[in-house]
Amino acid sequence: MKMKSKLLLIVLLGFSMANNKIAQAARDSAIKEQTHPDMRWWQEAKFGMFIHWGVYSVPARGEWLMYQEHVPIAEYENLANQFDPKDFNPKEWVARARDAGMKYVILTTRHHDGFCLFDSKVSDFTAFKTAAKRDLIKEFADACHEAGMKMGFYYSLVDWHIPGVLPQGYSVSPSTMKLLADQAHAQVRELLSNYGKVDILWFDGMYPNDPLAWRSQQLISMARELQPDIIINDRSGLPADFSTPENAVSAQSRPWESCFCMNRTWGYARYDSNYKPVNELLRLLASCTSQNGNFLLNVSPDGDGKIPVEQVEILGSIGKWMKVNGKAIYGAGNSPIMAPNLGMATKVGNKVYLLIQRWPGPMVPIAWVGSKVKSACLLATGQYARVEQQGDRVWLHDLPQYPPDPWLTVIELTFEGEPRPSEPAYR
Ligand code: GLC
Repeated sequence: MKMKSKLLLIVLLGFSMANNKIAQAARDSAIKEQTHPDMRWWQEAKFGMFIHWGVYSVPARGEWLMYQEHVPIAEYENLANQFDPKDFNPKEWVARARDAGMKYVILTTRHHDGFCLFDSKVSDFTAFKTAAKRDLIKEFADACHEAGMKMGFYYSLVDWHIPGVLPQGYSVSPSTMKLLADQAHAQVRELLSNYGKVDILWFDGMYPNDPLAWRSQQLISMARELQPDIIINDRSGLPADFSTPENAVSAQSRPWESCFCMNRTWGYARYDSNYKPVNELLRLLASCTSQNGNFLLNVSPDGDGKIPVEQVEILGSIGKWMKVNGKAIYGAGNSPIMAPNLGMATKVGNKVYLLIQRWPGPMVPIAWVGSKVKSACLLATGQYARVEQQGDRVWLHDLPQYPPDPWLTVIELTFEGEPRPSEPAYR
């Protein structure tokens, strides 16, 4: 190689290395952790309601219908002409959530199809500008605020209603990407400016999967500026405040929330009657709580805005259980005393709650206990057990033969001081 070309190569190499460094620095700053808001209320709340609702609730085949059935934009727009929800009563939704023992409600302000339940200056595909002619988010926000219910906004970054996003969905041209990101920034600003206090921002649908393309760091900074106390999930590609395992309980070392369908579909699907039984849903709630996580349970109102009767019934049953056993959930976290043969355990202060799925009969044995159990009370009936304790073993006597709660029976153990495990502890 001639001297000149060698020099040129070195200069070019140096230039591209510098460029790479700049790109890497941008990436690093894009994923660096933010300072977190005070999350105490959220971590104590433990249980929230997710609501998937939009124009897709009219055909009732789930919220991915546009993609899955490859519906052209013009045809999909017709759904908005049929979306005039006569039974929409957000006060009732909030009341259902409250009666079920849920402490916050998160609604899809816009899903992947791009249809906004709110009035937006940067889109015509909104409830306000189509058949409903209402800002449904305004009504929802008023209902939450009036009831003192913490309110969350789900917002899908991707918008299938923009030409060039579907069918491929996951890779778009630079100009389309800019359109998508600009729109998302403008709409998140609208959502966080026009509806009073917003407690949670729940991003989703980051397709393409690139926080730089979405300018996620700026999106999050803007959200925190507009709503200083807001708690933000991790689906804008940055960790933000909490993680969001989906239809799975997967404990993390940071704040986390598992979201679950009651059946198998997030958006209303008339045919989907695969409902989880109440004991299973309570097991999931207890399982999240016992591992310091939250549980976000979805409901899917129909095109008229009515929550299906099966879901209302499930919420009612959960509420009944929570009224008696909520002490084992709210403000609870993982317990140093465990009874894995029986079920799960949570702890609040000097109390440990055994959430028993496999009721052993009149005597309930526990072990690996390092401090003194003062009393043991069956929450379902208020009955106290006779406590026998020797070394690290404890026996609770005189209990019923059969589990007094058909779903999940809770025993409250009150300790003298901090509940401590034995040394060595059970693993
Ligand atoms: C997924 C799905 C979506 C649903 C969401 C709930 O990302 O795309 O339909 O809204 O998860 O967690």
